[in-house]
Amino acid sequence: MKLCVCKNYDEMSRRAAETVSRVVREKPNCILGLATGSTPLGMYRCLVDMSRNGLDFSEVRTYNLDEYYPIKPTNPQSYRYFMDHNLFGQIGIDPDNTHLLNGEASDPAAECAAYDAAIEADGGIDLQVLGIGGNGHIGFNEPAEGLICETHLTALAESTIEANSRFFQSSAEVPRHALTMGIQSIMRARRIILLASGQNKRDAITGLLNGRITTSLPATLLLLHPDVTVFCDEEAYRG
Ligand code: PGA
Repeated sequence: MKLCVCKNYDEMSRRAAETVSRVVREKPNCILGLATGSTPLGMYRCLVDMSRNGLDFSEVRTYNLDEYYPIKPTNPQSYRYFMDHNLFGQIGIDPDNTHLLNGEASDPAAECAAYDAAIEADGGIDLQVLGIGGNGHIGFNEPAEGLICETHLTALAESTIEANSRFFQSSAEVPRHALTMGIQSIMRARRIILLASGQNKRDAITGLLNGRITTSLPATLLLLHPDVTVFCDEEAYRG
């Protein structure tokens, strides 16, 4: 696992965006795995700027990590809405090339199996972007005795509901469930970058960097992946 400690959020965002843009330039029809949340917003702003300056996303295909369940794609709290507004609508990507789990699927297990199959049929993810929860989750793979390999329907941890309540009027409004790529679905990506910013990520980053794998900090499974770079700012890094 490589570590890149950046001075602040802006530098972290820029360096992560540079990594994504290199992948897009080297392989114009690459497959990106994308994440939502506050952390990647700065990186998405950089990518929008890069697109205005000629970075071509017209052949890029994307698969997002997770989506609340149930939720309508038109709901401003949905991750589909987040991605359309913060990235897809501004980079000239073909909407048909952008994939998110369907938060309205009537059969979530079938939706999840089809999602993993579609990623595989498309050739697999070239670069997966991850955030990290304060509790160490990646996607919505929450700390637990056991972690599920494949994409699945899951319950959100109380700590995640609490953390995500800042996007809602109250914590009662935060959906209790989500569809998420599983650990193996994430680990199949050829390359992974993980972004972390701010003091509330310190414990998770410290746990990740101490080199011990535990399902109580799901991000530590990434220690088994051959090509992971952690971009974090100084606040998230306890040196
Ligand atoms: P955040 O979420 O970027 O909003 O902090 C990260 C995560 O929960 O994975």
